[in-house]
Amino acid sequence: MLDLKRQYQPLYRELLESVGQVLATQQFILGESVAAFEKAAAERLGVAHAIGCSSGTDALWLALAAAEVGPSQAVVTTPFSFFASTSAILRAGAQPLLADIDPATFNLSPSAVEALLNGPQGAAVRAILPVHLYGQCADWTAFARIARERNLKLVEDAAQAWGADAQGVKAGALGDAAAFSFYATKNLSAAGDAGMVTTNSTEIAERARMLRQHGMKRRYYHDEMGWNARMDGFQGAILAVKLKYIDGWNQLRRAVARRYHALFHAAGLVEAGPYPSHGVVLPQEVKSTHHVWHQYVIRTARRDGLRQFLTERKIGSEIYYPVPLHLQAALKPLGYSEGSFPEAERAAREVLALPIFPELREDEQQTVVSAIAEFFS
Ligand SMILES: Cc1ncc(COP(=O)(O)O)c(C=O)c1O
Repeated sequence: MLDLKRQYQPLYRELLESVGQVLATQQFILGESVAAFEKAAAERLGVAHAIGCSSGTDALWLALAAAEVGPSQAVVTTPFSFFASTSAILRAGAQPLLADIDPATFNLSPSAVEALLNGPQGAAVRAILPVHLYGQCADWTAFARIARERNLKLVEDAAQAWGADAQGVKAGALGDAAAFSFYATKNLSAAGDAGMVTTNSTEIAERARMLRQHGMKRRYYHDEMGWNARMDGFQGAILAVKLKYIDGWNQLRRAVARRYHALFHAAGLVEAGPYPSHGVVLPQEVKSTHHVWHQYVIRTARRDGLRQFLTERKIGSEIYYPVPLHLQAALKPLGYSEGSFPEAERAAREVLALPIFPELREDEQQTVVSAIAEFFS
């Protein structure tokens, strides 16, 4: 699925040197290396502020809390994402409300959100938290309009979308605040847990900086309930090195995606979406968005059989995500049940992520597609 050693090998001297500099300064928590990364990251994204923190999960919580989304308020998000998109809302003390996805992009559906907002639960909603799933921005034209009309905050879960954009605006600069993850499998990854909040609001940035340090502005004077959610110096140093290469890596991911498209078409396996019947539905890049292909996710009605077939041939694949959030045991108290979100439930049965990373070779992709063709024949 992912061979991180291929990324590491050409960079190891530069990475070791950057880690050595952290050791030389002995600034292990935040410090110069994190400040330098934050500055460079904000410039790259075209956003005023970037606040490094301990994980993408903490970044989501910080973004919500700093935007003053909390108790007695509700936040709308998608049932088809990683657990943290919803658990962070609960951690901020707010109520998660879920709305179904668009079957073509797997992202939160603006019309489903509007239906929810027009219903009895709509009045409590203070924010919408769309996830840029698989590296493609959610429909920001629609969400920006909905937020404007109803005076709601928009918080982006940009964990999978470093470098993606919508109408030329980068993920991280679209909403009131955004959260990134630098977990090892992400397209921009640290050497451990790390995350980041971005915002154009000075107020939200100041609050996020305070909340990641136990609610302190002045040492040992705690103005609010914060938490320890700081980025460590080694992660800042490593991320600053990788930041120089991420645009090139994202271009390579796009080339890998194009090759998959061509190989699947050449193999005669492709059927029109969004729902599969006999073959494979390919992922699509929506017009006027820039997809960074964090994942290349196909759809097939025979997903489980195909995955087993690939596993037997030692070909990696993954299911993001096999159980939608409303059916997770831990989220039972939200009160949803089977049938609540049919699109998310169907996607959970049909999606399969194939190997994708910048260094993946064409012959390896050929092997993957040939195996899939063999399965369908
Ligand atoms: C969509 C999404 N949101 C949030 C997270 C949480 O990030 P982290 O693992 O860095 O806490 C992840 C990644 O794991 C993710 O994919």
